[in-house]
Amino acid sequence: MNEDIITLAIETSCDETSCAVLRNGREVLSNIISSQIEIHKKFGGVVPEVASRKHIENINIIIQQALDEAGVSFKDVDLVGVTQGPGLVGALLVGISSAKAIAYGLNKPLIGVNHIEGHVCANYIEFKDLQPPFTCLIVSGGHTYLVQVEGYTKYEMVGRTRDDAAGEAFDKVARALGLSYPGGPIIDKLSKKGDAAAVDFPRVFLEADSYDFSFSGLKTAVLNYLNSAKQKGEDIVVEDVAASFQQAVIEVLVEKSIRLAKERKSDKIVMAGGVAANEGLRDLMEKRGREEGIRVYYPSRILCTDNAAMIGSAAYFNYIAGNISDLSLNVEPNLELK
Ligand code: KG4
Ligand code: ZN
Repeated sequence: MNEDIITLAIETSCDETSCAVLRNGREVLSNIISSQIEIHKKFGGVVPEVASRKHIENINIIIQQALDEAGVSFKDVDLVGVTQGPGLVGALLVGISSAKAIAYGLNKPLIGVNHIEGHVCANYIEFKDLQPPFTCLIVSGGHTYLVQVEGYTKYEMVGRTRDDAAGEAFDKVARALGLSYPGGPIIDKLSKKGDAAAVDFPRVFLEADSYDFSFSGLKTAVLNYLNSAKQKGEDIVVEDVAASFQQAVIEVLVEKSIRLAKERKSDKIVMAGGVAANEGLRDLMEKRGREEGIRVYYPSRILCTDNAAMIGSAAYFNYIAGNISDLSLNVEPNLELK
């Protein structure tokens, strides 16, 4: 008897059309990602209606590619996982409709997955022995959470952003600096050539005991700095502004994560989401982790940003936990992590 569980997973929450095939939640047989970034770049951000249309054009092709690359066919699939939310409603609908049709046609279980949980699960793919509990920093374009992960499907939300998400702050500051979309990777690259101490931007820690974040004040500080330099006719060194801004973001992310891990006596900090690809953040978290005796984990770059493999991993763990959806599954653009 074959005890392996083959999961087909679909992710269409934003501007990546992605489909993956996994064996048992941690082994990726294929992970096809079709990015729409080049299309949205000219608008300076994701245009929801355009994203939905592109998902519709691509989804069947991407699903077939994922099956082909994994060397399986529909009849081998045991489980269908799909992002239910959070994300863009029209974009999510494309993935959900496809997943429902496949699950119904194959008469196999359907699992609606929380996209944020997917980001966390990317680490189970990368680190085959990683198990909860651990402290987790989730930093993406739309979300910034500090979470204590109690089990594979059990989360305690400890802190969140009160305004902009970390990735959103990177993207907005990049835009103000005249850089392209998405700005995070560009700022990351420029920062390496800049002086992080050049501009003293604020580190916003909020109340002493708070695990929440706030990045809109920092964004305003960067805008004010740029306007004032322009008015005075001073030269702006883009690399220095990028490095100083990035430093202000990552110091707060790292110190709050370390504080939570120490408070919970957790010897692991796991990072997830697009901003976890940031090299400055990775380096600083590892340095502080070493000082405090905490091991730091983060997925490889391709698993940090949106992809269906992470959704497949989350679908598997939810299936094991008995969290199975039915065909009434609907999109939840504002789905919370519980
Ligand atoms: O997780 P993700 O792919 O999509 C969401 O679920 O939002 O995250 C995308 C975000 C964007 O804001 C992008 O600028 C940021 O992740 N990002 C980075 C880096 N790579 C991607 N931010 C900072 N440094 C990076 N290297
Ligand atoms: Zn994401």
